[in-house]
Amino acid sequence: MTMAEMAKALKDKALAALNGVADAFSLDGFFSSYLAKKGEINALMSKMREIPNEEKAEFGAAVNEARNEVSKAFEEKKRALEEAALAEKLKHEAIDITLPGVSYTQGRTNPFHAIIDEVTDIFLSMGFEVCEGREIETDRFNFELLNVPQDHPSRDMQDTFYFPDGRLLRTQTSGEQAHRMIEGGKGPIRMISPGKVYRHDDDDATHSHQFGQIEGLVVDKNISIANLKATLELFAKKMFGEKREIRMRSSYFPFTEPSVEVDVSCFKCGGSGCSTCKGTGWIEILGAGMVNPHVLEMCGYDPEVYSGFAFGIGIERVAMLRYGIDDIRRFYQNDVRFLKDF
Ligand code: PHE
Repeated sequence: MTMAEMAKALKDKALAALNGVADAFSLDGFFSSYLAKKGEINALMSKMREIPNEEKAEFGAAVNEARNEVSKAFEEKKRALEEAALAEKLKHEAIDITLPGVSYTQGRTNPFHAIIDEVTDIFLSMGFEVCEGREIETDRFNFELLNVPQDHPSRDMQDTFYFPDGRLLRTQTSGEQAHRMIEGGKGPIRMISPGKVYRHDDDDATHSHQFGQIEGLVVDKNISIANLKATLELFAKKMFGEKREIRMRSSYFPFTEPSVEVDVSCFKCGGSGCSTCKGTGWIEILGAGMVNPHVLEMCGYDPEVYSGFAFGIGIERVAMLRYGIDDIRRFYQNDVRFLKDF
């Protein structure tokens, strides 16, 4: 065999070996055996000095050709193995796009909060501020500063949940009137304060141990019952429609004098009488009155200089009338089928 023939034989042997390579590990071994610095191809090339000069050119060309072909075949094999490995990997990591996806349902605003938002917007547009309030209250703010001393009979109607230290879950948002007057800085006040209140009540379709109120308070010089009526009339029109009218009936609250219940002309039938207004044409929506001078005094306002009015709106009551909801308990059950109706 000539040296050139030996080069060709080595090439054929290498290509045959490469054929049998089936993974990255044996490919590495193949590289070491043939193409590495100490591999067989270089070893053959080093025979150059042993052969006669006239054969050197032919031999060199033959070894180089062997190296080029084996290198090229090696690169191809390497790429093929990498592609196969990737395909194998993808096969196992494949995402099955036919599987049903995770569905994210969109939440809805509970009508309870929708009413708070709506009422808040209306009073903000009239220049009222919104006070946050608190649900755990002291006897002083829930009762005494509102003209309900210990043993006052009206406490019975608002029996509630007491803590061992005498604090309680507030029975009304009216305590926020006193907080605002005492802690909010002196001078004129126009504020509302929405939130939850608690009473020891049997739960039925129209009563709940927990419900919501929106308190309102205006204090300034020269505030009269005409201002109360104008404010609530504007509120009723914005909330229930331009054609609404209000009427005031005499009532009693310890912290307002005089006190009134405010009715709005029925927004379902327009006043002719229907099931919503129980045939009367009017729907009671809130309690209100002129701030009792004694309350002003206890809260640091001189009743000779200042006067004011207050009102309390029942949130669920307004929502039930507005949306025709038949059971107050629906507000608290978070049943999406109910919430989806709004
Ligand atoms: N706090 C009263 C209630 O719970 C409502 C009210 C608020 C009445 C403000 C007059 C003024 O029934």
